[in-house]
Amino acid sequence: MKKDLISIKHLSLKEIADIFALTDSLKKNPGKYSHGLEGKTLALIFEKPSNRTYVSFNVGIFQLGGNSIYLGPDHIKLGVRESIKDVAKTLSRYVNGIVLRTFAHKNVLDMAKYAAVPVINGLSDFSHPCQALADIYTMKEKFNKVKGRTLAFIGDGNNVCNSLVFICSKLGINIKIATPKGYEPDLQVISESKKIARANGSEVLMFNKPQKAALAADVLYTDVWASMGQEKEALKRKKAFAEFQINERILKSADKNCLVMHCLPAHRGEEITDEVIDSDNSVIFDEAENRMHVEKAILLKLMGENK
Ligand code: CP
Ligand code: NVA
Repeated sequence: MKKDLISIKHLSLKEIADIFALTDSLKKNPGKYSHGLEGKTLALIFEKPSNRTYVSFNVGIFQLGGNSIYLGPDHIKLGVRESIKDVAKTLSRYVNGIVLRTFAHKNVLDMAKYAAVPVINGLSDFSHPCQALADIYTMKEKFNKVKGRTLAFIGDGNNVCNSLVFICSKLGINIKIATPKGYEPDLQVISESKKIARANGSEVLMFNKPQKAALAADVLYTDVWASMGQEKEALKRKKAFAEFQINERILKSADKNCLVMHCLPAHRGEEITDEVIDSDNSVIFDEAENRMHVEKAILLKLMGENK
């Protein structure tokens, strides 16, 4: 049966470990996999802008011997020119996999339901699983062991935050989330993840003061205050999030060897300062690089012969 990557929620511990092990191997010996997806084509359906997700999947499939087709907002006009069901059924006759970046998470679920080929969530309003996998892979590269570490997410309880909550709780990483009131992550994600975390000896904690979340943290993570699709709220959010910036003061509250992470794109001077992005603690561009390595592992797992 075909497999999709829709949300971290559906990944088992073994599946996460297998993706990370294959990523290690891909990084050490990329040549070994250069024919891994020969003759295969990946459709990249993007209803929102992208740098990392688009480029990393594009280059990634090319490095595995495959090919990609970009379908931007004006190409297929999902749900407008044609239903998702009909797009899914048609593309399944041409391509071997689909990456979808969209607004409503239901679009990803529908694409996966009707496509006969694997569907990968390249970001929805609800989650960004490829990002969270690359982030925790980066954390593992730097710390070796991630269980028992503490990640502080400071900012908006958005798609990236939801995926981090899922993956941290599965891997026994404590996650402390600081948001202004009213901008918490999905409460269902929090309640489900609290149970999973407890079983794995870790905690999911929520705060309204960034200093509290940052205290002694091993990782400081942030993301933009207004995500794609929320541009009209940008001004209102700028005011609500003014205290939630990762700056030198917050960095001092965290462990001195902490890693600073951001999924990018960053709004330098808003959610994070130049000094912190460019500091020795920052591993932000390692995360961006690892997007590609982790996604190559995901592509091989979902589209390769030895799934
Ligand atoms: N982090 C991330 O997904 O970046 P893009 O929006 O540029 O793809
Ligand atoms: N939360 C951001 C992440 C971008 C990678 C957004 O959805 O725009």
